[in-house]
Amino acid sequence: MSSDDVTQDYAAFDPHAYLLEYYADIGPENQALLRFLVRAFRDLPAESLTLDFGGGPALYASIVASGWVREIHFADYFETNLREVARWLDGGAGAFDWSDFVRATLELEGRDTSPHGIAARQAQVRARVTKLVHCDAKQACPLDEKGPLYDVLMSNFCVEAAASSLAEWWDCMANLTSLLKPGGRLVLSAIKGAESYGIGDRRFLAVRLEEADLTTALMGLGFDPDTIAIETVPADRPDRQYEALMFVTATKLREIG
Ligand SMILES: C[S@@+](CC[C@H](N)C(=O)[O-])C[C@H]1O[C@@H](n2cnc3c(N)ncnc32)[C@H](O)[C@@H]1O
Repeated sequence: MSSDDVTQDYAAFDPHAYLLEYYADIGPENQALLRFLVRAFRDLPAESLTLDFGGGPALYASIVASGWVREIHFADYFETNLREVARWLDGGAGAFDWSDFVRATLELEGRDTSPHGIAARQAQVRARVTKLVHCDAKQACPLDEKGPLYDVLMSNFCVEAAASSLAEWWDCMANLTSLLKPGGRLVLSAIKGAESYGIGDRRFLAVRLEEADLTTALMGLGFDPDTIAIETVPADRPDRQYEALMFVTATKLREIG
């Protein structure tokens, strides 16, 4: 395979290269992503059980969530990503440095950004992420371990990477959102208008999405139309293969009758 080919083979996914590509610094995109997550989490009930679905090797979302919710389960398809996350949680040598993301999160929350505040939040992430689990969005039961339904389902830049067509994306969204309790909150990010995303000179397949795809899918999957909110933020560098990031929150309708 030449490096220009687009792949969906996650054996070619290098967690460390991915982290360096997208999370080496906090530019406008990552600042907007953190701001979105802080806004999405700050009003949620503190006792919420949260799932990060397709979290990859990335801990920024758990860094935000752990400031607001009781417990987080972290799921990814690719074992090597889960090992990268475990390395940070265990404080292992060579783990990615998330301290700038911790500081930026605390700043957005108006909390203590001193070294003590940063250490305290890092300890909180380590305490609140209680489970790492394999997941596959293509399965009707997408988590390996059958567990409780979640109060909060978060998924960032995963479903459009997992699926290979719009129809499959819809099926994956149905599988994923079946993990959310009626009345539960979805917190989702997706890249807009992309057929692939890059890691170094490798390109990974993505399903091309626009805001209308998200709205239509969520309405079809039992989310309250009045609660669906989408914010779109332009890509912050010209070499990105996507036009923008789309940030979505929505509440699943309660079962009626
Ligand atoms: C672009 S990364 C997003 C990672 C992380 N959430 C983030 O915000 O940086 C896409 C993720 O989707 C995961 N993935 C790929 N196929 C999947 C599948 N069938 N089910 C669930 N996750 C999948 C990959 O392992 C990868 O971690």
